[in-house]
Parts: sequence; C-alpha cells; structure tokens
Amino acid sequence: MKLAIFASGQGSNFSAIVKAIKDGKIKVGLVVLVCDKPEARVISRAKKAKTAVILVKREDFSGRAEFEAAIIQRLKSYKIGLICLAGFMRMLSPGFVRKYHNRIMNIHPSLLPAFKGSHAIKDALDAAVPFTGVTVHFVDEEMDHGPVILQQKVRITSKDTLASLEKRIHSVEHKLYPRAIRFFCEGKIKVRGRKVEISNP
Ligand code: GRF
Repeated sequence: MKLAIFASGQGSNFSAIVKAIKDGKIKVGLVVLVCDKPEARVISRAKKAKTAVILVKREDFSGRAEFEAAIIQRLKSYKIGLICLAGFMRMLSPGFVRKYHNRIMNIHPSLLPAFKGSHAIKDALDAAVPFTGVTVHFVDEEMDHGPVILQQKVRITSKDTLASLEKRIHSVEHKLYPRAIRFFCEGKIKVRGRKVEISNP
C-alpha cells in the first residue's frame, strides 16, 4: 500500500506517521508529500525523511479544477492507495473526493461534529466545555465531515491555556492517526453508509 500525505503546515503529524512506519507499526510506503505552501515546515521534514514532495501552489492555477488536476496528474505514477490530510488547509472538490472514495482520511482536533473549522482547539477552550478531543475520519464533500474512524477524548482543565491544550491534543493525534492508518492497511476498516466498522482492532 502506498500513502500520500497532504499537508501545508508544521508537519508534526507527518513526522509521527514517518516514525510509525520506521518503527514497523504500519506497513505502508510513504511515497509522497503534497504541499501547497513553499514555506511550510513540513517540506523540510519530508526532505529529512527522504520523501518526494509535490509542491503545488494554488495561485499558479486559474481555478480549483486545474489545481486538483495537476495534483492528480502528478500522483498518477505513484499508484496511491491512501491519502492522509494532515493540516492541508484546502477543501477538496467533490470530484476529487469521489476519485479516492473512502481512501482519503483527515485528522481534526475536536470531537466532530463539535468544533469544525480551523480554530477547533481555541473554540473548545473558549466554549469552556469539559472535554474536547481528536477525530480521524474519511473525507466527504463537506468540511470536517464524513464517516468517523477513530475518536479520542481530551479533558480540558481549568488550568489549560491554548498552548497546553494544543500540546495534549497533538500528542493524542500522533498516536491516533498512525493507528487509523494501520487499521486501513490491514484491511480492518469497512464503511457502511456513514458508519465505520473496525474488525478486531
Ligand atoms: C493538526 O492539529 C490537525 O488536527 C489539523 O491540523 C493540524 C496539523 O498539525 N488538521 P501538524 O502540521 O501536523 O503539526
């Protein structure tokens, strides 16, 4: 199985996945990083891990269709079985999602459907809820939506700051994402409508 990671940020999840592969916890070949931000830290992490990088800048294309066509074209030769979004801050079109139906995962720092969007950790802290968490889900046509694969709660304490909560959420992410990828690669995940079933986790 070949894996592509789409990321445009810090890349801590990228590195966690690389480590899980190196440690033999997931049997998958990480073949390529797709990134739309030349200055993103994840690019240097990919270089260090000797992973190929496809850099596609949205502003180099007249529209989303052309942008995605370029990604699809450049991914073709890799024969990708799974795409993992890890801080890729762009919505994929319904056509792209259909092409990789139930083969695109995303990780989101909340217990979806609560706190969708790009400020999920801060929003949970501001809402003063007792806990938030992490969700790994298959991507569908809507933002932060689609069949949930794994979720884990993270308690919010009265002493939490945004930084402390982010730190705990990220450390949960770094375990949960490799686990979801492992289940996928072992063929343990079945999607029935909007429900995910995992056999012998
Ligand atoms: C993570 O919090 C993830 O849940 C969200 O984007 C962030 C990416 O962090 N989708 P990193 O770039 O992997 O450090």
